[in-house]
Amino acid sequence: MIDETALTVLLTADQLRDRVRELAAEINTSYPTGRDPHLVTVLKGGFIFLADLVRALDRPVTIDFVSVASYGTGTRSSGVVTLATDFEIDITDRDVLIVEDIVDTGQTLSWLLDTFRARHPRSLRTVSLLDKRSRRTAEVDIEHVGFTIEDRFVVGYGLDYAEQFRHLPYVAVLDQTPQHPSERHTDSLRR
Ligand code: PRP
Repeated sequence: MIDETALTVLLTADQLRDRVRELAAEINTSYPTGRDPHLVTVLKGGFIFLADLVRALDRPVTIDFVSVASYGTGTRSSGVVTLATDFEIDITDRDVLIVEDIVDTGQTLSWLLDTFRARHPRSLRTVSLLDKRSRRTAEVDIEHVGFTIEDRFVVGYGLDYAEQFRHLPYVAVLDQTPQHPSERHTDSLRR
């Protein structure tokens, strides 16, 4: 376990709330009346952002969740991804908005975009709260970005380190990493 003294606040709860409102206004403008978006979030990190975003959108959106995993011993940053949990709602002819908490290498989003496109949505866009652009290894278009951040390990507001810190109402940089190998979580360390 790491305690919260290892964290340095990067984005306060107020900054997040204000930016989520701005993103919601942007998104509302890009979907005309009668074209309410269908929001698909990638578990688990996006759950808090999605919850705040749908309330800020204040229109009758629909939501769904997918989860992704990597094949064999690869990590998702290798781009070798599979859907661990598939859509519950068919996305054919829907205006799909992928909701991500963070885009890092872009490999997960790149794979998701290809996979979603193959299901023939009417339109397909992405919103990511955080964008760690300097780490990109796959070219991806993100229509709506909350904050572009430096290459630091961030936690909070849904993002974890070894399943810790998701509950925090702010985003923080984790400066300390645990020494014990059992506390290391491959997926999280990649972010
Ligand atoms: C994060 C995030 C993205 C992915 C981005 O998930 O939610 O799906 O990493 O990384 P990439 O751009 O390098 O592909 P994470 O692996 O932390 O899983 P979690 O959401 O379940 O915590």
